[in-house]
Amino acid sequence: MSEKEWKRIAIVPGSFDPVTLAHFDLITRAASLFDEVVVGVLENASKKPWFSAEGRVLMVQREVQGLRNVRVIRFAGLLVDIAATEGAAVIVRGVRGGSDLEYETLMARMNAHLRPGLDTVFLPSAPHLSHVASRLVREIAYLGGSVAGLVSDKVALAVATRAEEKRADDASSREGRPE
Ligand code: PNS
Repeated sequence: MSEKEWKRIAIVPGSFDPVTLAHFDLITRAASLFDEVVVGVLENASKKPWFSAEGRVLMVQREVQGLRNVRVIRFAGLLVDIAATEGAAVIVRGVRGGSDLEYETLMARMNAHLRPGLDTVFLPSAPHLSHVASRLVREIAYLGGSVAGLVSDKVALAVATRAEEKRADDASSREGRPE
């Protein structure tokens, strides 16, 4: 049989602030379903990210270095535009439960409206990771809890360091504030 002349490319977009084990599971599964997977790290995540875009890209790259058909890029602007630039015909998103599904369905339909033909595939989160969310990881780390089992050891270290900086920043801004 002759070798396939086209590749089925998927994009896995996100803020990855920070990348979690649930993200890694999603990317790994996407990599087994598609010929090529582009992980798109949103540059200017509106929610004032803990980590810079470069830092988040590096963190994701380190996590996925063992997956040969995955590459990581940063992007700004519309997801549909970067999907077109990268030749991705499919967006892959993880879904933890009902409220995710509602929000993700809205986004999927809007993206299909903006770029007809661009479809979204939802993958249900692995049951043992369906409580994992970057926002909760940040909150737990800030409050001094353990994020083991939610992120890799390397990411846990980066998160702990950043949490310490955040706590110090917040303490010094409280001290500088007039009574
Ligand atoms: O990890 P997140 O924060 O849930 O990812 C959200 C993301 C990056 C997928 C979404 O905010 C996005 O696609 N942003 C790019 C801007 C865009 O295209 N907005 C219109 C979406 S319908």
